Amino acid sequence: MNISTYYQITTNELKGKVILVTGANRGFGRAMTLDLAKAGATVIMLGRDLGSLEAVYDEVLDAGHQEPILYPFDLEGATPEHYEQLQAAIFANFNQLDGLIHNASIIGTMMPIEQYDIKLWYSVIQINVNAVFMLTQFLIPALNKSADARVLFLSSSVGRNARAYWGAYGVSKFAIEGMSKTLSEELEKTNISVNSLDPGRMQTEMRRTAYPAENADKNPIPESKSPAIVYLMSEKSEKVNGEQLTLSNA
Ligand SMILES: NC(=O)c1ccc[n+]([C@@H]2O[C@H](COP(=O)([O-])OP(=O)(O)OC[C@H]3O[C@@H](n4cnc5c(N)ncnc54)[C@H](OP(=O)(O)O)[C@@H]3O)[C@@H](O)[C@H]2O)c1
Repeated sequence: MNISTYYQITTNELKGKVILVTGANRGFGRAMTLDLAKAGATVIMLGRDLGSLEAVYDEVLDAGHQEPILYPFDLEGATPEHYEQLQAAIFANFNQLDGLIHNASIIGTMMPIEQYDIKLWYSVIQINVNAVFMLTQFLIPALNKSADARVLFLSSSVGRNARAYWGAYGVSKFAIEGMSKTLSEELEKTNISVNSLDPGRMQTEMRRTAYPAENADKNPIPESKSPAIVYLMSEKSEKVNGEQLTLSNA
């Protein structure tokens, strides 16, 4: 299902909503944090680098948007106890969670599976899949308290059509598509909608690492796509559920 990148954010359309974004410190996560806060949501900014999280926090406040919450957290090293603490912190500060956006991931390396570094494979699967599973599992109780909650899994075209040499990253995105579909079936009769989203190419560090030879300036900036994330967290998209979404300029 295609979702347009063109969306006009209305002031306060997400007022009162609490939305957790992983990897909120840069790239697409930063852009969506700014737009979600612009729409009035309280964004729980999860990331492993406190300095860059604070820089985005300052940008949000300087723009006059809703104040976010910083949550320093390393998705690679976190244990179930860390997720339990996050769950407790959300319940201690808010009644519910209205959105969970699994944005953070790492690209690993471009390499045939035959030669793929085993330690790196484990890291990619830990951050891109296992952490996503644990975060989801521990935050479902808070999402259940919301009258209209959304879970969004950031995916990729290589998680829908296999491409040689994309290694652990491609495999991790296939796993994300499976997780999204399985979860949406399990939560079918609840107030939680679950979708995966291929955002398409963007001018970020991940894209530059994957395509070092291309002219990066030709790629759309993440800010041109992040309004669609506000749409996907808003009442206007309440019927969108169990879909493999793709951002398009149409
Ligand atoms: N850019 C594209 O062209 C493109 C295309 C298709 C799909 N996507 C998907 O879109 C999403 C966002 O991509 P992007 O381009 O914005 O990527 P990016 O610029 O590389 O940013 C990745 C984010 O993930 C965070 N992260 C990585 N490892 C982490 C860990 N262990 N703990 C916590 N946070 C961690 C990074 O934090 P640090 O700063 O600490 O590293 C950063 O905030 C990804 O899921 C990606 O697969 C992107």
